[in-house]
Amino acid sequence: MAYRLDGLPEYAFPRLHALLADVTPRANIAPINMSIGEPAHPIPDFVGDILARHVADYGRYPPNGGTPELLGAIGDWIARRYGVRLDTSRQILPLNGTREGLFNVALAVVPDTKAGQKPAVLMPNPFYQCYAAAALAAGADPIYVPAEAHQNFLPDFHGLDPALLARTALIYLCSPANPQGAVADRAYLLRLLALAREHQIMLAIDECYAEIYSQIPPTGGLEVAGPDAAGVLVFHSLSKRSSLPGLRSGFVAGDATAIDRFRQLKNYGGAPLPLPIQAASTATWRDEAHVIANRARYSAKFDLADRILAGRYSYIRPAGGFFLWLDVGDGAAACQHLWREAGVKGLPGQFLAQPDANGRNPGANYLRLALVADIEQVEDGLTRIIRCLDEKKGRPDAVPESGAA
Ligand SMILES: Cc1ncc(COP(=O)(O)O)c(C=O)c1O
Repeated sequence: MAYRLDGLPEYAFPRLHALLADVTPRANIAPINMSIGEPAHPIPDFVGDILARHVADYGRYPPNGGTPELLGAIGDWIARRYGVRLDTSRQILPLNGTREGLFNVALAVVPDTKAGQKPAVLMPNPFYQCYAAAALAAGADPIYVPAEAHQNFLPDFHGLDPALLARTALIYLCSPANPQGAVADRAYLLRLLALAREHQIMLAIDECYAEIYSQIPPTGGLEVAGPDAAGVLVFHSLSKRSSLPGLRSGFVAGDATAIDRFRQLKNYGGAPLPLPIQAASTATWRDEAHVIANRARYSAKFDLADRILAGRYSYIRPAGGFFLWLDVGDGAAACQHLWREAGVKGLPGQFLAQPDANGRNPGANYLRLALVADIEQVEDGLTRIIRCLDEKKGRPDAVPESGAA
C-alpha cells in the first residue's frame, strides 16, 4: 500500500543522531550544541505573572478564533510593524506556533486538482521540513526550487515551466530564510505576488524570524499585499521574536477567504490556545522592549561571528534570523569532524535540502550553526570551529574562500 507521507524526507535531527552515533568528542572538552534553532535568551519577565494570574482559566474551553484582546494586540502589532491595518475578526487567526499553521495551510487551501491536474506546492530548497510534509499530506506534489548562493539564496519561481505554475496551488517562501538568513526585499515580493496572482496561487510566507535582524527590518508580505492581502498569508510566532518557543503561540494573517477555510479546519481538528496563553501572548505582542533587547543579543553574537569568521567558509552576515550557513566543502564530514575534535555540534546542510533530479543536494557543502547559546559559548564554539577546520585543511591562517563575502 502506498501512503501519502511515503515520500517524506527523514527528519533532520534523527539523521544527525545517526550521523554522530559512533562519534565521541575527545576527552576534556565541554560539548557545545549549535545544531538546533531553539532560542535560549531569557523569556519576557511579565509572562510568568500573567500565566499565574490566569491559571483558573485552564478550567474553560478557549475560543478557537482567539480572544478579542489577543486579536486586537496582534492587529496593532501588524499595524505598527508593517503599516497595514487588518480586519482582526476576518484576517487573523491565532496558532499554536507557526509550525502547525504552516502544515495546516496546505490542507486548508490546496484543492483536489488544479488546471485539471494533481496540484503542486512549491518551496525553496533548502527548506523548513514542515513544508514538504504539508504538501504531501494535502495530496500535492512538493516541488523543491533551488535557493543557492548565486541566487542570493532566494528561489527563482519565475523561471519555472508555465505548465507547472498552472497546477501550482501554494508557494512557501521563508523570509528571513532558515537556514541561509536571506531576506526577500520589496521588489522580490512584489514580483512574486504578481506571479502568484497571475496563476491563482496562494502565497504562504513564513516570517517567523522577522524580528531578528541586524539593521533593516525585513519587509513583510502584508506590506506589499496591502490591507486586503488577497492571495497572501503570513505566519508569525513568539518563539523567536520573544524567545518563547515553549509557549506555542503564533498567528496567520492575510487573505480573509483563506483564513476562513483555516478557521473551519481548526474548528474541527485544531487545538485552540489555552486562555492563559492567549493572555500572556496579548501582553507579549504589545511589548517591544524585550524584542529590542533580544535583537541586540543576537546582533552582538553576529558582531563576534564577523570578527571570527571574516572571509572564511563563505561567511556572510545574514540579513535576518540566527543561523550561520557555512560552506565547509562537505557538511556531513565537517559535522563529524567538529563533534569529534572540537566538541561542537552543527547540522549538515544536506539534511535540510532535497537532492535535485541529478542527485545533487544543494545543502551538501554547508553546515548550519545556530547562534542561540549565550555569547561566551558562541565565542568559544566559533573559535573552536575555525581552529579545527583550518587545521584540517592544513592552513592555520586560512585565506578567504572563493566566493566569500
Ligand atoms: C523556518 C521556520 N518556520 C517555522 C518554525 C516553527 O516555529 P514555531 O512553531 O515555534 O513558531 C521554525 C522553527 O524552528 C522555523 O525555523
